[in-house]
Amino acid sequence: MQPTSTLALDEIDLSDLEFWLRPWSEREGAFELLRNERPIPHFDDPVITDSPFPIPPGSGYYALTKHRDVAAASRHPEVFRSGQGAVSIVDLPPEMVEYFSGMISTDNPRHTRLRRIVSNAFNPRRVRAIEDSIDSVARDVVDRVASRGSCDFATEVAAPFPLRIICEMMGVSPEDEKTVLACSNTILSMGDAEYIPEGTHPVIALLEAGATLTAMMEELGKYRVEHPVDDVTSALVNSKVEGDALTHQELASFFVLLVTAGNETTRTAISHGLWAFTEHPDQRAIWQADVEGRAATAVDEIVRWASPVIFMRRTVAEPIELSGTQLVQGDKVLLFYNSANRDSEVFEDPYRFDVLRDPNPHVGFGAAGPHFCLGAHLARREIKVMYRELFRRLPDLVATDEPVRLESNFVNGIKHLPCAFTPAR
Ligand code: HEM
Repeated sequence: MQPTSTLALDEIDLSDLEFWLRPWSEREGAFELLRNERPIPHFDDPVITDSPFPIPPGSGYYALTKHRDVAAASRHPEVFRSGQGAVSIVDLPPEMVEYFSGMISTDNPRHTRLRRIVSNAFNPRRVRAIEDSIDSVARDVVDRVASRGSCDFATEVAAPFPLRIICEMMGVSPEDEKTVLACSNTILSMGDAEYIPEGTHPVIALLEAGATLTAMMEELGKYRVEHPVDDVTSALVNSKVEGDALTHQELASFFVLLVTAGNETTRTAISHGLWAFTEHPDQRAIWQADVEGRAATAVDEIVRWASPVIFMRRTVAEPIELSGTQLVQGDKVLLFYNSANRDSEVFEDPYRFDVLRDPNPHVGFGAAGPHFCLGAHLARREIKVMYRELFRRLPDLVATDEPVRLESNFVNGIKHLPCAFTPAR
């Protein structure tokens, strides 16, 4: 896909949802223009109408569009802070930040403590168990559609797969999976009408979805204190690491983060993968010719290509200059991963989908720094295992129509993707 330039520099407004509804090629064209002409532009905050809680007027934000600036901001958490919220452009009330984003919106020392407890819960034995479950869930998900010859790849393959893995990992019962999916769709939809109950303000829907997940996890956490089993939830609430464990509220926030950060993102990458392979059958043939041997580069190229998370936010703690732009305390910056992942200073021929790309220093999982995606290893494995299974069972699978995209400036989501294949037993 080549970028097309339809917008002049001064017409680009990243705060306007309309911008994000433009064809991908036009979006790419606009970001290319920014990288070349105005790499750290300033935009007003997006306007949120009829919010049920007061949103203080913001002073706008700087957009980091170059790979080097995204990397620099990620590397210096003491200057580029996350505590005022990493996932929302506007300032939300602190309790909402806590509720919806957990450790991703914390700074040291709290971030280190939370990350250590969570990392300890993923000990090698538990990681091996999760890896086994990825293989069996992938088989099961493909089994369910294999005999039909066609399906909605996004909702029937890409969505249930990471969802079930996260639910299994946390010990959420299969009966609750549908609720988890509906809530995570609502939280990450950012107002896309398909996921908001009719007549409900998107912010209210978001709060209700968060409350449902929180209640589910608080209840499970309390139960696991008394009845521990070998799952991640039990480990998190009963952690003995220096006498530290997650509180029930922290567990609930972590769960909300997991089902959003770990669920929608992986689903998005898998769906983009099918669309990319449909548009670039030569690249699919290259991977299919050596599925194991080429998995590492192919998976990372899918993540670069998809850039499932569009941005993360930081707030500047002290004056600093970034590529010639002077930033002062309190300035907001948005790290546009999608743009950094097409930066020709770092990627040769960045608009070429190349499953053998190596090196591939993409920032799809964030750039190096303390908040680098905790689930990168798991996500890479999920994408690899799903495509291995698809190539084995449904080798001629293709998308049969354009993806229906999520209306969002935060997740580069695909809601629906019709596909067809020769039915398998
Ligand atoms: C293709 C799939 C995924 C993508 C593209 C992705 C992307 C990201 C990005 C961009 C960040 C923020 C990095 C930063 O601020 O520096 C992040 C953080 C995080 N991700 Fe992922 N992620 C994916 C899958 C997962 C999975 C499967 C899990 C969980 C099992 C997960 C859990 C997390 C957590 C907990 C954080 C916060 C880490 C912290 O603040 O210390 N992610 N991810």
